[in-house]
Amino acid sequence: MIRTLIKILMAAVLCSVQIPARHILAEEPEILDHTGSFLFNSSWQFHEEGNDAAEVELPHDWTITHAPDVSGEAESGFLPGGIGTYEKAFTVSARLADCEFLLEFEGVYHRASVYVNGQAIAYHPYGYTPFTVDLTGFIKAGEENTVSVLCDTAEASSRWYSGSGIYRNVTMHVKEKLHLDEQRMRVVYERPNGEGVRTSLSAYLVNHTGEEREAEVQAVIYDRYGRVCAETSQSITAGEEETLAEAELAVADPQLWDTDHPVLYRAEMSLLYDGEVIDTVSTSYGYRVTEFDAETGFYLNGEPVKLKGVCLHHDLGALGAADNRDIWKQRLEQLKEMGCNAVRITHNPASSTLLDLCAETGMLVIEESFDTWAYSKNWNLADYAACYNSSVGQDHLVNLRPEWIWAQADIYSMVWAGRNNPAVIMWSIGNEILGNIGLAPEDYPAYADMLCTWVGEADDQRPATIGDNMTDGSSDVQNGMDQAVADHGGTIGLNYALTEEYDALHAAYPDRVFYGSETASELSSRGWYLKHGVDQDHLQVSAWDEEAVEWGCTAQKAWYDVITRDFIAGEFVWTGFDYLGEPEPWNGVEPGSVSGQGPVPKSSYFGIIDTAGIRKDSYWFYQSQWRDDVTVLHILPSWNRESIDTDLLGKTKVTVYTNAPAVQLFLNGKPLGMRYAEKHITDAGYEYQTYDGELSPSWDVRWQSGTLEAKAYDGSGHVIHSVSGRNKVTTHGSAASLSFTEQRRRSSADGELMTLYVSAYDADGNEVYDCSQRVFFEVTDGGEIIGMDNGDPCDTDPYQSPETGRKLFSGTAAVMIKVIDSSRDITVSARAEGMETAQITIASAAGTHHPVEYQIREGE
Ligand code: GAL
Repeated sequence: MIRTLIKILMAAVLCSVQIPARHILAEEPEILDHTGSFLFNSSWQFHEEGNDAAEVELPHDWTITHAPDVSGEAESGFLPGGIGTYEKAFTVSARLADCEFLLEFEGVYHRASVYVNGQAIAYHPYGYTPFTVDLTGFIKAGEENTVSVLCDTAEASSRWYSGSGIYRNVTMHVKEKLHLDEQRMRVVYERPNGEGVRTSLSAYLVNHTGEEREAEVQAVIYDRYGRVCAETSQSITAGEEETLAEAELAVADPQLWDTDHPVLYRAEMSLLYDGEVIDTVSTSYGYRVTEFDAETGFYLNGEPVKLKGVCLHHDLGALGAADNRDIWKQRLEQLKEMGCNAVRITHNPASSTLLDLCAETGMLVIEESFDTWAYSKNWNLADYAACYNSSVGQDHLVNLRPEWIWAQADIYSMVWAGRNNPAVIMWSIGNEILGNIGLAPEDYPAYADMLCTWVGEADDQRPATIGDNMTDGSSDVQNGMDQAVADHGGTIGLNYALTEEYDALHAAYPDRVFYGSETASELSSRGWYLKHGVDQDHLQVSAWDEEAVEWGCTAQKAWYDVITRDFIAGEFVWTGFDYLGEPEPWNGVEPGSVSGQGPVPKSSYFGIIDTAGIRKDSYWFYQSQWRDDVTVLHILPSWNRESIDTDLLGKTKVTVYTNAPAVQLFLNGKPLGMRYAEKHITDAGYEYQTYDGELSPSWDVRWQSGTLEAKAYDGSGHVIHSVSGRNKVTTHGSAASLSFTEQRRRSSADGELMTLYVSAYDADGNEVYDCSQRVFFEVTDGGEIIGMDNGDPCDTDPYQSPETGRKLFSGTAAVMIKVIDSSRDITVSARAEGMETAQITIASAAGTHHPVEYQIREGE
């Protein structure tokens, strides 16, 4: 009874605050002297060949601190890799002599060799899948031990910036010889029908004692308030090394998970031996039903849902590849606010940090395994092709069999890590697998079949999918690959299909489910209006949604093709955020400058939001199309003649991103014409509207100093006052002051990262959209500057050096602050020559409610 009470109380703390999706972690102790799972991120000695060693905390990316250099490739952000070693010393108590030590790495880029006390025990080539190394037998109880990891990124391996090092979390699991395997814990349930839903929990009981053991397995399901919804227990005989422990529970009328109500439950399995709990594993999950229809697209819990998605690479701008929950949270919030309901993780599996956040915030996910199979792309000879077909061939990687090839092992690792997550709706077996390899291997349809088989073995609840860029249907090999995916019940993602191609493919394969796995690839620099199209002088691209790579198209065209076709389940825009590397139209796949101006540009122009987390104009285009609960009203360009492109008559194109029934534009109070929306409803019931046939209205306006303002009207002609976006632009004078635009005023915990944005204003308070002055940031004790950025693909100043400061780009820059001591107020200031300094105070979290991420589990 007391135990149950403690459980309920602890679960209440956990669940009301945040449900840990996989592990219940305790803080890392000074000495490992009890069983449990501990975050193992602190005090690693890092040594990069040719440099001094330094102590670092994980997650860590060592290449992001390097200066971009033309010895690197544009596609990798001009940041070449190398060889780096991490080493951590830790003491293990003699009490643990009979225990097992499982060290879990969520992601090491890449070719990781793991050593314990100097002895090499494991090798893991892929940089994006989690793996667990069994250190048992190599650890000396009662002594100090070291674990070290060598990463090798010396050879080119990626079409984007990969980063280098242990860039995701590391967890140490100390277990008894009789324990539960967490990695393959699984929750499946029958279709919720408003009554008791049969839910089965399973996990493998591992027995390394060498003797048969009688044990008991308790299974409990908690709701999001930590209340027990169902529990059961049963005896189990562990005779073999591995026995499947299963429990069936009925959960009365569970609340469903969806994108607006991401309701999570938590399943926990505990192992009792001699009446004592000796191990507990848990996972969060949600009840939902996903279905696809070849005519009408995607359904969530029976409701039609158009997938309004973006593709995401894994870097976080100034942080490089180093995984960070706070910044991912901020990014997902921005995407949700835009109306985005889905992300495609390109072209590799996501961190558990990101997957957990998607489950918590209600963001649907396509997890993607590979960008290459057996042949390298872009001469990156160290990419995944180098290991796809090699055997695992070793014994100390938990749950991976030596006889498997890596492709099989990595598919399982990806699927095991996400198969209880309600956000994940598909498993992609690869992206543009025939692209950039210069051949069409005839055995690739068989590869696709095998990959789908492995996906299905690890998860029979979700379809496999593939990103197909041979959308004219002329490649027999691609058709064979797609057919294999379809034969397994999978869906087909189309990258950059043209209007007619969507129709032709649907006509040719009426039973296939299609969606736009990559669309648009529109190019733009935030706030850049100096010249329409590509600005070769400044290496920038205008923000008018008019430029795209040759295989892509504008944002408006891509969405129009998708929203007007019910058989296309949705789109995944390339990309949600700008990322490091692939700076089309100045991309290059070999070392050396492409622009002829040194190692620039070094980041992409594809993002709807830039690398610094600052929204470009297209953000409001998507918001206007993807949300119907806010009135969007956003004008572009800005309004200073010297920074916008005008024709010989002094005219410029003014676009308003909106979803209002009617919009009027005024220049200095003078009306420039009303535009009315025409509403359209598709057969499946999806709505969109056009203004004179376009998704967004525009006007040709002769420039005149002053204020350009848009007004939105409802169906009865009343002005709508509450709008989202920049509904007014004014000709500004010179920059006179800086101001923080971030509303955030309170820190929440030590270690938290937050991004603050600073913009320039003239003496009348008008935003100076073209200001590029250098800003210096300072922070008081209790906080630390860990990154600065402005989203300019051509800015090669170091991200981390407060002495250098950062230039504003299109009037704005961002600074990332780490909370070192949340018991103190932190003041951040931004100063620039000749401008009034900006200051913001982040109040201490002391005395307020702290989010508790992890709790020590019961039985410890
Ligand atoms: C696609 C590819 C992406 C990215 C994009 C740029 O073909 O799948 O990884 O390269 O093009 O437009």
